[in-house]
Amino acid sequence: MAAYEYETHDYDVVVVGAGGAGLRATLGMAEQGLRTACVTKVFPTRSHTVAAQGGIAASLSNMGPDNWQWHMYDTVKGGDWLGDTDAMEYLAREAPKAVYELEHYGVPFSRTEEGKIYQRPFGGHTTEFGEGPPVQRTCAAADRTGHAILHTLYGQSLKNNAEFYIEYFAIDLIMSEDGACTGVVCWKLDDGTMHVFNAKSVVLATGGYGRAYFNCTSAHTCTGDGGGMVARAGLPLQDMEFVQFHPTGVFGPGMLITEGARGEGGYLTNSEGERFMERYAPQYKDLAPRDYVSRSMTMEIREGRGVGPNADHIHLNLSHLPAEALHLRLPGISETARIFAGVDVTKEPIPVLPTVHYNMGGIPTNYWGEVLNPTKDDPNAVVPGLMAVGEAACASVHGANRLGSNSLIDLVVFGRAAAIKAGKVVDAASAAPATNTKEVDKVFDRFDGLRHASGAIPTADLRLEMQKTMQDDAAVFRTDKTLKEGVVKMSRVAPKLADLKVTDTSLVWNTDLMETLELTNLMPNALATIHGAEARKESRGAHASEDHPKRDDKKWRVHTIARMTGNKVKLSYRPIIADPLTTEKEGGISLKKIAPKARTF
Ligand code: FUM
Repeated sequence: MAAYEYETHDYDVVVVGAGGAGLRATLGMAEQGLRTACVTKVFPTRSHTVAAQGGIAASLSNMGPDNWQWHMYDTVKGGDWLGDTDAMEYLAREAPKAVYELEHYGVPFSRTEEGKIYQRPFGGHTTEFGEGPPVQRTCAAADRTGHAILHTLYGQSLKNNAEFYIEYFAIDLIMSEDGACTGVVCWKLDDGTMHVFNAKSVVLATGGYGRAYFNCTSAHTCTGDGGGMVARAGLPLQDMEFVQFHPTGVFGPGMLITEGARGEGGYLTNSEGERFMERYAPQYKDLAPRDYVSRSMTMEIREGRGVGPNADHIHLNLSHLPAEALHLRLPGISETARIFAGVDVTKEPIPVLPTVHYNMGGIPTNYWGEVLNPTKDDPNAVVPGLMAVGEAACASVHGANRLGSNSLIDLVVFGRAAAIKAGKVVDAASAAPATNTKEVDKVFDRFDGLRHASGAIPTADLRLEMQKTMQDDAAVFRTDKTLKEGVVKMSRVAPKLADLKVTDTSLVWNTDLMETLELTNLMPNALATIHGAEARKESRGAHASEDHPKRDDKKWRVHTIARMTGNKVKLSYRPIIADPLTTEKEGGISLKKIAPKARTF
């Protein structure tokens, strides 16, 4: 048994992760007087939310008519009827409140002439239940909205006495014998000390797992740490086959060029200079949802109409827009295009390609952020003491495809919801759970095994093998053959975790060991993704199967539940929640209105 000394910390709530969802949850918990710790592997304002550009969706109606029912409808249709309808209603209803709260906390939104929050169009956001013109629903702080939100929430959390544990890496959850979560074990990266956090509630806000792929807009820190911890705790992941490709990553390096660029009037062209989206989505064109646009771009390239010497990418045109507008509304992406593509956006198009951007799947939760462990008798059974929010979670509010700018609003609406729920269920007067030393020892055993791993494969080599496999075999378009091959390849890649070689065994700033721990988190996420995709014999949202091009609501309007035992994946299915929170009589949306139908734009 590996013997590590550790310091013990007792809290009401421990939030793991300090992106938008983690900070909004932390702030909400602390505001209610709960003793709250936020544990984060990077400095809070360096969390990946800082890279969110275009904005946050809410039906404020600042730029024209809008309402939450239209927003909800667009979210349901955008998600290709896989989402949980109660969560979708909660998101759309609460969004305006959540954005005004951000404004009052101090987020420096861009403004209209009248001083209202500026809102821009984004893909898939419409009026009149998908019948009217695009709506300006996405509230923006230029094209640095995530940056503005993150800094504000961090300041507010400090003001409310939340305690931050910065550059602490969460190794694993502590679970009790009866299946409750009672804490988390962490490694402090800068001095090598170990820490056990006992808490009445642990909130996973660890972000997505974009780095399971070779080419993505996600930061290097997006390694699915929450999903990895949950899988090792014997809990499931949900809908992992739905991986969003953002249409406009910079060709090559993959940095994000915000959809706000098309919202402000930018458009895509092929090698013939044609605005090809007019053919694929006659009504909304470049402002169709991301899965639609990414597939259309891929078809253009496949049919030989890509741009560049190898006809392998597409052009995003902004040079027709006034230079002042680019400077005012899109300064960040103008700089990104200059640095990473060598392009002056006032004169030249940006070379772009669909790039992995977001995981619709994740840790299953209800709309209060409580983690679910579905059983035959109760598909919505809750895991005591464990919550998940943000991209790490699958509420499932985005269904099979998320609309742009519904991510930032997801972070704050559900971060806030988790805090509201914790305020009701966490008893601040009781003592924190006692340290479960048996479980803590098991965590240290795994950690120590990786620290002294003396196999043959460097972590970076195995990570690359996994990333290339996922990139090739679980792409924008999928076939039975590529997915089957992907499953076989991944079943050879994953066991190589047992043959890793870690060269640095120190405990202080050991990036070799940290990246190894991260790889053990990426792997279960990647496995669940490829297995879930291989099993789903239909096309829905971001899962586009060339062998099964139609959506099959009878058989497949269900959530995929993936459970891991080591590297083995077992799939089962959970019914979606089809009922909204309120009826039409109560001011809600009618079931008829949101019934599945053909998804055209
Ligand atoms: O395009 C963007 O600005 C990204 C926004 C999002 O993913 O919601």
